[in-house]
Amino acid sequence: MSEVIIMDHPLIHHKLGIMRRKTTSTKEFRDLVTEVAMLICYEATRNLPLTEIEVETPLTKTMAKEIEGKKLCIVPILRAGLHMADGILNLIPNAKVGHIGLYRNEETLEPVEYFCKLPSDAADREMFVVDPMLATGGSAVAAIDLLKKRGIKKIRFLCLIAAPEGVERLQKAHPDVSIYIGNLDDRLNENGYILPGLGDAGDRIYGTK
Ligand code: PRP
Ligand code: URA
Repeated sequence: MSEVIIMDHPLIHHKLGIMRRKTTSTKEFRDLVTEVAMLICYEATRNLPLTEIEVETPLTKTMAKEIEGKKLCIVPILRAGLHMADGILNLIPNAKVGHIGLYRNEETLEPVEYFCKLPSDAADREMFVVDPMLATGGSAVAAIDLLKKRGIKKIRFLCLIAAPEGVERLQKAHPDVSIYIGNLDDRLNENGYILPGLGDAGDRIYGTK
């Protein structure tokens, strides 16, 4: 079964609390998506393998450490994942970025794919799939299915808020994918929205409702 890492950090709790408020402005909400993504990324990169390299400081030669192997690729699920990707790029500026476009059919709640563009060397990279909301899990499972069909083997999934239903579905479908969660909320409502949640992440980021 896949590893599930739920953040427990005062800054993340505080920032998610502001995001949940319905009075929080579009700009503030968008900035917070980026900030919380950065904090989650800090945890999600904790066990990346390091290698030793020699560097020359202004005073002497020494051994230093750098992240081993090919660099990472961030894959935001459109639309709402885009601002998470911005936060992660602040920490890992050399990462490549792939994009997967999915939206939920409002009636069936199943994801509909409309876009996929990945770097040409994607199969050699470790992917960080990012989306603020893991609700039914349909979008995350579909995005990861798509990556695996293209030969990608190492995948982590990062979200700000998850419902237990989505975590279970993602774990069952992709037991090899570690899941990093800002906060595990209570449940889904009858329309597939996370409770207490923060509403529709895409609409709140882009002011489309
Ligand atoms: C939201 C969210 C996820 C998806 C989660 O996107 O950003 O992608 O719903 O729900 P699920 O776990 O039940 O699949 P949405 O489909 O509203 O598209 P948008 O980002 O374009 O608004
Ligand atoms: N997508 C969202 O943006 N919010 C939810 O609560 C569920 C799915």
